[in-house]
Amino acid sequence: MMSPALLSLPQVLVVLPLLLSLPCFTVSTQPLGTNNHSQAQMLQSMSMAPPERETLFHVMETMSSDRDWRFSNPDPCMPGSFWPGIECKPGSDNHLHVTRLDFGATPNPTCKNTATFPSEVFDLPYLQSLFFFNCFKTTKTSLSMPPPAYKPAAYASLQQLSLKSNPSLIGPIPPHISSLSSLQVLTLSQNHLHGKIPEGISGLTSLIHLDLSYNSLTGSIPAQLGSLSSLTGLDLSYNSLTGSIPPSIGQLSQLQKLDLSSNSLSGSVPESLENLGLLAFLALSNNKLSGQLPKGLPKLQNLQYFIMDGNPMFVPLPYQLGRLSKLQELRLANSGYSGSIPRSFALLANLTTLSLENNRLTGEIPAGLSGLSRMYHLNLSRNMLAGVVPFNAGFIKRLGKNLDLSGNPGLCLNGPESSDSISVGVEVCGGNRSASSMQQPLRSSARAPSSLFSNFPLLLGCLALWPVTGF
Ligand SMILES: *[C@@H]1O[C@H](CO)[C@@H](O)[C@H](O)[C@H]1NC(C)=O
Ligand SMILES: *[C@@H]1O[C@H](CO)[C@@H](O)[C@H](O)[C@H]1NC(C)=O
Ligand SMILES: *[C@@H]1O[C@H](CO)[C@@H](O)[C@H](O)[C@H]1NC(C)=O
Ligand SMILES: *[C@@H]1O[C@H](CO)[C@@H](O)[C@H](O)[C@H]1NC(C)=O
Repeated sequence: MMSPALLSLPQVLVVLPLLLSLPCFTVSTQPLGTNNHSQAQMLQSMSMAPPERETLFHVMETMSSDRDWRFSNPDPCMPGSFWPGIECKPGSDNHLHVTRLDFGATPNPTCKNTATFPSEVFDLPYLQSLFFFNCFKTTKTSLSMPPPAYKPAAYASLQQLSLKSNPSLIGPIPPHISSLSSLQVLTLSQNHLHGKIPEGISGLTSLIHLDLSYNSLTGSIPAQLGSLSSLTGLDLSYNSLTGSIPPSIGQLSQLQKLDLSSNSLSGSVPESLENLGLLAFLALSNNKLSGQLPKGLPKLQNLQYFIMDGNPMFVPLPYQLGRLSKLQELRLANSGYSGSIPRSFALLANLTTLSLENNRLTGEIPAGLSGLSRMYHLNLSRNMLAGVVPFNAGFIKRLGKNLDLSGNPGLCLNGPESSDSISVGVEVCGGNRSASSMQQPLRSSARAPSSLFSNFPLLLGCLALWPVTGF
């Protein structure tokens, strides 16, 4: 399982360019040239249209009890007395309009315990961005949207909708979310939404970023998502989605981040994924995926993170992965991979993390891995690897606690420093081992996959002292 913290670096990598590419929303009540009095005076003389201001008061009262909003700031957009958490822009109608609402984290207004989702926000005619973070915590509320027939004004203007970390936000994603025709960013992460992903989401053709992670969504991934042709980030991780990954995902040619981890997806990874040439981050961990990886996987020449632990793959580890030359993290633990570690992995010059623990890998560790100068985390524990560990003392020292070779009873370390052998979890070759190994397992703590295998590679590996073959 990956914690959200572990995900943060790649997320930043992918989200940062995305944010930079979005239109700038920072025009607010503030950037008035302080030396331009005529412009300031002009804005000073502008006000909100009364119906919009009344809607805004109502939204504020539903959400926040930080202050008496009507009384303390009767003119919410006015320079000098504007509210925190809102942004306004002058419109061609000589009124100021709310374009952004941001609640939940200081310096923005905090949400009161009884806050519920204020569906009136969709009546704010110029609203472009809406952020509710950690707002709905105790009172159960749902993402209620007025029916499209009622033509809520914000349906055409809203570009960003982000409702994140709201534990009492429950219920389904309303199908008419598809009416938000200008939406570019939809983040509904870390709530308690359930039900299916509405097929109508595919109507949001301007969408750049779709994040529905950490909810309780069920059903399958709608094949229609393939029509979201501008999407650069798709995160459906940590839900209860079933069925197979629709091949139409391969149509999302702009995709840079795809995270489907921690669902119950089954079947094999579709061949069409090879079309995602811009993909930098691919996470499919903790599903029920099985079988061969797509043959065209090496076409993903921008892939930096391939994270796919915990799937019942039960195939040989594909040597083609060695052609993903930008790869920094490769995690394929707990997945029943067999065969040997491909020597082609030594070509992954930028690899920092290689996690292959708890598989059924056999044979020797490719000596070329020790040439990977950026490597700092290597876990090969709990396999059936055998032979002499091909790492020199410098490599072992550099990785330190982040090198784990334990649980491979057939491995041994050729070196004078027995402290090294303890730290990486293998015995020193020869010596006391040869005298006692026939009778008893050398490491009682070693969790060998089965007792049948625990002694066999040992005989092959450590008594024969195989030559170290360079890559
Ligand atoms: C000041 O504002 C006026 C009216 O909006 C505008 O025409 C003028 O270019 C501005 N001057 C400066 C220095 O920003
Ligand atoms: C490896 O990383 C370095 C530094 O981040 C980068 O300049 C280089 O292009 C990367 N190599 C590949 C093959 O991606
Ligand atoms: C390696 O993986 C095992 C699980 O097989 C885990 O217990 C151990 O902490 C990991 N070691 C390192 C250094 O990551
Ligand atoms: C061999 O085992 C004995 C006792 O079990 C120990 O004192 C000695 O240091 C070991 N020698 C080597 C080379 O590990």
